[in-house]
Parts: sequence; C-alpha cells; structure tokens
Amino acid sequence: MTNVRELYKCNVCGNVVEIAHPGAPALVCCGKPMEKLEARGEDTGKEKHVPVIEETGAGIVVKVGSVEHPMEEKHSIRFIEVLTKHQVLRAELVPGQKPEAEFPVKRQDVLEVREYCNLHGLWKNN
Ligand SMILES: [Fe+2]
Repeated sequence: MTNVRELYKCNVCGNVVEIAHPGAPALVCCGKPMEKLEARGEDTGKEKHVPVIEETGAGIVVKVGSVEHPMEEKHSIRFIEVLTKHQVLRAELVPGQKPEAEFPVKRQDVLEVREYCNLHGLWKNN
C-alpha cells in the first residue's frame, strides 16, 4: 500500500511520482511495478549527494552536496524537497543552475530534506 510522501520510479521510462494521497495497492508504469525510492543518508563514493542544510535570515538553503554536484544534461539534481509536519516544499532544478535551493521555513520545523539525482537516486538529511 502506498503512503503519503513516498516517491516511486519507473525503471523503464524514468518517470518519478510522489504520493499526495495514499490508497493505491501498487503503482504501475510502462506495464511494470514502479520501484519505491529509499533515500540514502550517507555518501560513499567520491560524488556527494547528501543534501547540506544551512540557515539563512529568511529560512534555509539546501545545497547538494558537501562537494557541488554536477548539473549536466545527462546527470543532474532534478528536485530538492523540504518536509515539515504539514508541508512538502519542492524546488525543481534544471541543468546549468547551481544544485541548491532556498526555502522559507524555519530550521527547527524541518523534519527531512531530500534530493533526487537522475542517475543516483534519492538522498536525505535532517
Ligand atoms: Fe549524481
């Protein structure tokens, strides 16, 4: 059964969806079950994906990652999300821009931040 805020990916076409309201027993895309994305919280390779959270005067800025992640056409951060108790804030990124986004939320209200790399999947921090 799906749950709110879960992300699912189609490994055939690359489609990624987020559950806004739960209830489906399973998700199917391109005729196959979609894979539930599990966020990783620790970098292992030389590329850094774990999002870094910094406080600003107006809220927070989330950067990917501790070493700036590539933002190329074939490999880039596609979105960054901030989860609070009652909100999901999503910044949509495009190749060429910096892999970071600002959010007007108080640091103490942040339950989790996560980001999605088209090649390396979902990563989180809090
Ligand atoms: Fe990546």
